[in-house]
Amino acid sequence: MALTDTASERRVHYRNGLRGWLDEVQRMGELLHVNGASWDVEMGAVTHMLTEKSGGTAPAILFDEVPGYPKGFRTLYGHFSSIRRVALTLGLPLKYERKVDIVQRYHARMQNLKTLPPRFVNDGPILQNVIEGDKVDVLKFPVPRHHELDTARFIGTADCVMTKDPDDGWFNLGAYRAQVYDGKTVGCQITEGKHGRIHRDKYFERGQPMKVVILCGQDPLLFMLASSPLPEISELDIAGGLRGEPIDVVRGPYTGFPIPADCEIALEGETVPGQVRPEGPFGEWMGYYSDDTVPRPYVNVKTILYRNDPILCCAPQHKPVDETGLLKGIAGAAQIWRALEACGVPEVLGVWNHEAGPATRFTVVQIKQRYPGHARQALHVAASCQGGAYAGKWTVVVDEDIDAGELDQVLWAMCTRFDPVGDIDLIQKAWASKRDPLFLPGNFNNRILIDACIPYDMKLKNKFPPVVDVSGDLRAKLRAKFPHIFPPM
Ligand SMILES: Cc1cc2nc3c(=O)[nH]c(=O)nc-3n(C[C@H](O)[C@H](O)[C@H](O)COP(=O)(O)O)c2cc1C
Repeated sequence: MALTDTASERRVHYRNGLRGWLDEVQRMGELLHVNGASWDVEMGAVTHMLTEKSGGTAPAILFDEVPGYPKGFRTLYGHFSSIRRVALTLGLPLKYERKVDIVQRYHARMQNLKTLPPRFVNDGPILQNVIEGDKVDVLKFPVPRHHELDTARFIGTADCVMTKDPDDGWFNLGAYRAQVYDGKTVGCQITEGKHGRIHRDKYFERGQPMKVVILCGQDPLLFMLASSPLPEISELDIAGGLRGEPIDVVRGPYTGFPIPADCEIALEGETVPGQVRPEGPFGEWMGYYSDDTVPRPYVNVKTILYRNDPILCCAPQHKPVDETGLLKGIAGAAQIWRALEACGVPEVLGVWNHEAGPATRFTVVQIKQRYPGHARQALHVAASCQGGAYAGKWTVVVDEDIDAGELDQVLWAMCTRFDPVGDIDLIQKAWASKRDPLFLPGNFNNRILIDACIPYDMKLKNKFPPVVDVSGDLRAKLRAKFPHIFPPM
């Protein structure tokens, strides 16, 4: 089942950050240019409507000529609503037989990755415009109000919030939303347990303010890594490893943090213990508006850096399937695969977080059963490892003949290989999200594990009925005989 990489597949090959990525996407025919959409819900709604039923084929959308803003001040939505763009971003082949193959290959790359720390340079496009003091105004960009019931504009959705661990000094990048309060003040909603939150809690416990950089337009690779449940390693170092060369960074004038030299927009600021403002509501990743509009720490913006004709990156999310479904499916699933192998679970053939889930709400693990209890072991590890634990709901395990990424096949296994009494386990009081409309008091959730594998003893004794299918040999013969009805794949 191992997929082999050629040397050229092992590297992220585009350069010049988001601009280079957009050139490639344009060449692939997957970039849609839209002029004249308003920042006030129109851009978010257009993205929603183009993505919801696209089945992984929606374009990336570059909005320009936003009324009230100079031409060239653009926004980008829908980075990852096609598998080909995910593959491009990670430097993987653009074509796959199964969706889970990209997860497998990404996981394999991450296993063997040599991280590379960023390289400081003296200049870069991000220093083309540097604004400080009274001139700071984040609304100089066409910051959208994304959903109809949002009451504020959000500058940070497809962002990378950079924080520094006060103990070890490593820099984390996390995608955490940033609401605009006014031109000099933005929110930063970081959920409990996320790295940025742990950093902030550490500073606040010591009564210290925390410096922060919010990248609001950057290389999609950084956004992808920032929104993935990775271990405590800087995403800048991981991105360098995936590219095979360090990320060039300039020193932020206010924070001293390493800011990617080719990024589009960076806000530098600080968040101060005790300074809070009501944050939200916002149309959230579970497909509902969050009603926990509560006081949260905010960021005093001190410096804005941006390149000429900047592109603000956006990923507001909405009722699935949304423009982040594949991103979360692939990035999160690779982390679950890693954990399964790290725990010694053998014969993992596929992992997929289904796009309609969203994120880890419906995870499927595909295994070749080797011993009694193998399936149950895979379920518990997948549901409880760091990549799968946050806000999970359904975890399903299937046999090797069921493609974990194909919902029809998974449902068939659940309908024919699963017994509702014996094949369910429950986990109670697990790590939840308040975005879940059914979160329990104390912010826990309960979740369900489904063993949809053929019972092991029946499999061993060949007692399970044969599947009605067309054999591989007959398929090949018919393909050769009738190429006009079965064109070469
Ligand atoms: C588009 C998008 C928006 C997100 N917004 C938030 C957010 O506002 N707050 C949050 O805690 N996590 C948010 N997440 C999830 C985190 O980015 C994700 O859990 C990531 O792993 C966090 O990084 P960390 O593991 O370094 O903490 C978002 C993810 C995506 C894809």
